[in-house]
Amino acid sequence: MSTIRGGARGDLYDQLVREDRVHRRLYTDAEIFAEEMLKVFGVSWVYVGHASELGSANEFKTGTLGGRPIIVTRDADGEFHVLLNRCLHRGATVCRVERGRAKRFVCPYHGWAYANDGALTGVPWPSGYAPEFDTGALSLGRAKVAVYRDFIFATFNADPVSIEEHLGAARPLIDAWVDRFPGGEVVARSGAHRMDCAANWKLVTDNSTDGYHPAFSHRSLLQMAQRLGESKDMAYFADSPDDGAMYCRYLGNGHSFIDQRPMYEAAGDYWAQQRPAPGREALEARIRERYEPAEATRLLDLSVGSQMNLTIFPNLLIIGNQIQSLQPIAVDRTLLLWQATTSPHLPDEINALRMRSQEDFPSFGEPDDLANFAECQRGLSIPEVEWVLMNRGYGIEGRQTLDPDGGVTAPATDETPMRGYMHHWKQLMQGADV
Ligand code: FES
Ligand SMILES: [Fe+2]
Repeated sequence: MSTIRGGARGDLYDQLVREDRVHRRLYTDAEIFAEEMLKVFGVSWVYVGHASELGSANEFKTGTLGGRPIIVTRDADGEFHVLLNRCLHRGATVCRVERGRAKRFVCPYHGWAYANDGALTGVPWPSGYAPEFDTGALSLGRAKVAVYRDFIFATFNADPVSIEEHLGAARPLIDAWVDRFPGGEVVARSGAHRMDCAANWKLVTDNSTDGYHPAFSHRSLLQMAQRLGESKDMAYFADSPDDGAMYCRYLGNGHSFIDQRPMYEAAGDYWAQQRPAPGREALEARIRERYEPAEATRLLDLSVGSQMNLTIFPNLLIIGNQIQSLQPIAVDRTLLLWQATTSPHLPDEINALRMRSQEDFPSFGEPDDLANFAECQRGLSIPEVEWVLMNRGYGIEGRQTLDPDGGVTAPATDETPMRGYMHHWKQLMQGADV
């Protein structure tokens, strides 16, 4: 039975989030979920899409922001807007398709019409409204929008910190990821992998920079990598991941990072460390035919993921060469969207290899993770066992390093990023102005 007693809401979170553990209710309590949709997703900068998905004027896509249906639009001037998909009249959603191109949205219920910047442009038979009903002053609900390196973020916070300040120590890492693309131009592709996960959204976040689990959760993938040579992708997670140059970092403001690049750099070029994939040899042969050896290797390296796992709190996960975003649906249900990325400035063969990388980890490894998330959710339903331990690396003198940018660096299997982001989560739930 619970050892946590009522009391003020702020005190409650002091009890539920300890330095080295959190209470299972963070993952199972529908009231806490409803509260975090307001205090976390309603206040933070939340990732809502990539500029390349709305490549030209008047394109739009729909989605959710902390459960709220939204429309992300680009107007005729190229400006992005994040609109609440909720008619001012009686509340119906005004847009009911996933994506498209539209200058205006007409509510299917009674025909109220809105421009793609949200302004109410007209209602049917206006003579039926009193003169003081001023449609010109009305618009769909709007979130504030900020774009960083083509990642579009939105917030309902009336007075948010700048997106640059929010990203903080994560910012140079986003830059490094984007700058691997020629000209810094990233194209987020269709999102073939859309996973409906039977788990609380924080189970995904907990795992996003967890270097502890791959040796066990992804054993079949690692064993395949080992059969193909010690240096194949992720093989270094299997033996003694804490002894190598790989590390994890808590970056502040809820963001975290695990850096596999040192393992790749120690082993030579990126391409040589890839596992076999269908069609790979033919695509490689075409590149090697057309380019000098060094240039061919440079291009082939650009087909490979960045070996960075960067989590931007609360819902953007940059993993290898994929963009993953999560949308909480219910306390025990989360939508995960994986998108491959390509470049307009790379040969078609390299982009084809980037797309085919979806057949590697997202197809092989992500199902392992999804199974864990759902099984954690099931295990956490047990009321008698209350705590989720995040104490790996905690309390060991000299094991983690405080960085000049305010981050904390630790061995790859430590749960330092989890402890860090849970502290940030607690501050938000206690109403901190962050
Ligand atoms: S609910 Fe949209 S026009 Fe009536
Ligand atoms: Fe995993």
